[in-house]
Amino acid sequence: MKKEQTDNIENQDIEIRLLVEALFMKYGYDFRNYSRAHLKRRILNRFYQSGLKSVSEMIHVVLHDHSFVDKLLMDLSITVTEMFRDASFYKSVRESVIPVLRTYPFVKIWHAGCASGEEVYSMAIMIKEEGLLHKTQIYATDFNPQIIQLAKRARYPLNRIKEFTISYQKAGGKRSFSDYYHTDEESAQLIEPLRRNIVFATHNLVTDSVFAEVNLVVCRNVLIYFNRQLQDHVIGLFGDSLTGGGFLCLGSKENLQFSVQFPRFEPVVEQERIYIKKYDVPL
Ligand SMILES: C[S@@+](CC[C@H](N)C(=O)[O-])C[C@H]1O[C@@H](n2cnc3c(N)ncnc32)[C@H](O)[C@@H]1O
Repeated sequence: MKKEQTDNIENQDIEIRLLVEALFMKYGYDFRNYSRAHLKRRILNRFYQSGLKSVSEMIHVVLHDHSFVDKLLMDLSITVTEMFRDASFYKSVRESVIPVLRTYPFVKIWHAGCASGEEVYSMAIMIKEEGLLHKTQIYATDFNPQIIQLAKRARYPLNRIKEFTISYQKAGGKRSFSDYYHTDEESAQLIEPLRRNIVFATHNLVTDSVFAEVNLVVCRNVLIYFNRQLQDHVIGLFGDSLTGGGFLCLGSKENLQFSVQFPRFEPVVEQERIYIKKYDVPL
């Protein structure tokens, strides 16, 4: 590679770091410990679409144009999700977690990084089918306020319903998926009894503290965007939020094994990344 090319790449990496600092200093969004490759890909993607001349110019826009920041936040969030994503995960929760939750008088669940809510409503459907919904409180959080507004609506495009129905069946659904939504011309809205026990809120896993004391934390496809240090911090947060014997569910691409927090947990279903918090392990 020519000297000029390596210089350009180096300069762009510096500009990206400065942009990330600006986002933090001005708006409090802290992406400094997200994976470098992820940040670079998403920021450059927005840069190429923007028609601006350099990433430095983008810093100026970020400082002055809130609507641009909203777009960038959506880019950096990666809010892709679906109902009953990884159906085998839900089967495992049904078989290995719900029997324990059933023994509790009251159940609290925290979905962290819930995006537009599909994962949370999938859990609500399963909990309802298992007869636990009446005694369950679900907290669903994401740091992106735009996506939380969408999640609250519980309204999804009709063209996704077929895919959701297949995943519901694969996940061991006990009824007809159509029992759970009403449709109009464009969308399907999930029924009110599923929404009743869910509180949606903004919460940033990087900068906010422990959310509540809960029996189950679900945080799937979020930690993959963080570096090791930040993953350890966030898993620590989950450990502090869980009751002894509480469950932690990560996504299939995430792993506790290499975390400094690992001694606090024990695998329940290794393949599905379902762990239980041990009772007393001071770190
Ligand atoms: C790929 S989605 C995962 C959605 C869902 N958990 C699933 O597995 O289908 C990742 C979500 O994590 C959220 N997220 C990223 N960084 C976050 C942070 N620091 N605090 C809270 N949520 C965050 C994003 O806004 C996005 O909605």
